[in-house]
Parts: sequence; structure tokens; C-alpha cells
Amino acid sequence: MSHPAAPPVSLTRHLLEAQRAGQVSADLRLLIEVVARACKQISIAVGKGALGGVLGDAGTGNVQGEAQKKLDVLSNEILLEANAWGGHLAGLASEEMDHSQPIPDVYPRGNYLLLFDPLDGSSNIDVNVSVGTIFSVLRCPDGVTEPRDEHFLQPGTAQVAAGYCVYGPSTMLVLTIGHGTHAFTLDREVGSFMLTRRDIRIPEETREFAVNMSNQRFWEPPMQRYVADLLAGAEGPRGKDFNMRWVASMVADVHRILTRGGIFSYPLDAKCAAKGGRLRLMYEANPMALLVEQAGGAASTGRQRLLEVPPTQLHQRVPVFLGSRREVEAAVRYHLEHDAAQPQPQVA
Ligand code: F6P
Repeated sequence: MSHPAAPPVSLTRHLLEAQRAGQVSADLRLLIEVVARACKQISIAVGKGALGGVLGDAGTGNVQGEAQKKLDVLSNEILLEANAWGGHLAGLASEEMDHSQPIPDVYPRGNYLLLFDPLDGSSNIDVNVSVGTIFSVLRCPDGVTEPRDEHFLQPGTAQVAAGYCVYGPSTMLVLTIGHGTHAFTLDREVGSFMLTRRDIRIPEETREFAVNMSNQRFWEPPMQRYVADLLAGAEGPRGKDFNMRWVASMVADVHRILTRGGIFSYPLDAKCAAKGGRLRLMYEANPMALLVEQAGGAASTGRQRLLEVPPTQLHQRVPVFLGSRREVEAAVRYHLEHDAAQPQPQVA
């Protein structure tokens, strides 16, 4: 006897069922739905491309000193507007803004803090390659009614939800509320995100790495050694051939790794050493690290679990290694072995 196909599960139903199972509060569920709705709007703007008049530079710079694209600015505005009035949030912080913002006094304030990178990988917009929105949700500390930057400085382990939306050939939302990592595909006709991959598991082993090789000469010695061994392939110490991919859009690179495994790295290099790394801890590294860990992968700075890095600044940067567990462990081993071999400072 053939069984009828299981009915498709929307994001709304998935979250409602999670709420009934005690995995998510009603407020957090609604907050995630609002973020998802904003992502749909961004997806429409990204999809229109040149027809929407949204390509090209905005003529402004962000707090990081980077030139903003028109779509960076637009995506930031969409997320700010969508999240201002729902009553679930106490404050917001965006990679595109100097400081966090409390929810305006005219609206009720809730118990959560939202951080986002409105359009990650935006150098890819003008060439029609995948970009994405990354977000992270924290609890507002007890007793804080008007959150400031310091209230957002919580380690990645404190995240109650994290996710990204990738605007690619299809638009997909990948989400964790601390009970696995799940992927939803936007049904453009219906306007709903539909569950298309439940409980993603990243393969533990991989033969694929992602890194910007043009930075090779600026890397630290352990990273030089690690990648040299990957490139040596089957004849080298790793004993297998590796393939390389680099989209230069973190969302797209991480999405590939969640789909078929791999290691993504943006290590420390001489160009970004003074800043602590290239990628942002609060807007990029922490949410991606939670998604990857919830899918059975690992995420590290090369020397420390990413989710345990104590944040000291909203726009702090960190080195990032994440993806297939065994490969991340291998990259960490190269760093730790290097550090252990360094002469210890003499204590007088
Ligand atoms: O932080 C922004 C970002 O565009 C990431 O999405 C991406 O992984 C990285 O920078 C690309 O860096 P690069 O320009 O060195 O390739």
C-alpha cells in the first residue's frame, strides 16, 4: 500500500510546532518570522537587479570604512523598518551601523536583541552571484530597558537563534534555534518558506577547502603549512587530493559546506592582523558557528572555539575556520603545534 506524501511544512508551522515542544518562545517565533519576511523583501530587490535600479555603489561608507552598495543600504533599511514595531525586540545592531539602536520609544520593547549583516558578500551583487543576510538573536540582559552596545557583547554560546538567507538561484533560509539546523526554500508563488532539509548533518570528513588563496603570502606560518599540506594532495602528509572553491560570499560558501561538507577559512593575515581578522565576530562568525555546530560541524579561530570568544567590541573581527569537524580539528592542530613549538618567554 502506498503512503500519501507528507504535507509540506512551512516555516510558520515548523516554528509553531517548535513552540509547542517548548523549544522557542512565542516572541522569538514571531521575531524570526519578521526577519524571514524582511528577507523576502530583500530577495525581491536582489532579484530585480538592474531593473530595480539597485545595483552599484551608494556613494557612502560604513563603520568599517568599506564602500556601501545601494543594496547594502536598502537591505539595512528593510531590516530596521520590519523589526522596529513588532514588540519582540529591545534593540538592534547592524554591521552597517556604527552603534546599536534601542527600539524607538513609540513602540513596545521586548526581551531580545537582534544583530544582522544585511547583505553579506555584497561585492558579488553587481556580478549576479549569490549574496545573503546573516542574523543572530541574543537575550536582552535582565533589567536593561534601553540596551546599548555593551549589552550586545555576549559570547556566541548565548545566541538563542541564528540563521542566514541566501539569495541564489533559489532563496533559502537556514535556521537554528538550538535544536538542529534546518533549511527552508522560498516558494516564490506562494510567498512562504517551505522546509526542504530537516536536521542538516555536515559530513565529518572532506576533500574540499575554501580560502582566498591570493592572501597566501600574508598568512601565519601554521596556515602556510596547513594549506601546503592540502595542496600536496595524495602524495603529501594528508594522503588525499583536495579540491578548492571560493565564492567570496560567506553565505554562499557556508551554504555549500552545510550542503556537502568542506572547510571554510578566513585566517589571520598580515593585512588584517591589527584588526584581529577579516570577518566580524558578532554578525558573521558567531551565527555561522552556531549553525555549523548544530549541524554536527566545528567552528574555531584556529586556537579557540569560536562560540566562546569573549566579545569586547560590536564590530570585532576574528579569524574563522568552520565546517567538517575532522578538517577543522586538523587546521586547529597545525596552529596549536606551531604555538607549542615557540620559545616560551623567560620569567625573571
Ligand atoms: O565579510 C564580507 C565578505 O564578503 C564575506 O562574505 C566573504 O567570505 C569575504 O568577505 C570575501 O573576502 P575576499 O574579498 O578576501 O575574497
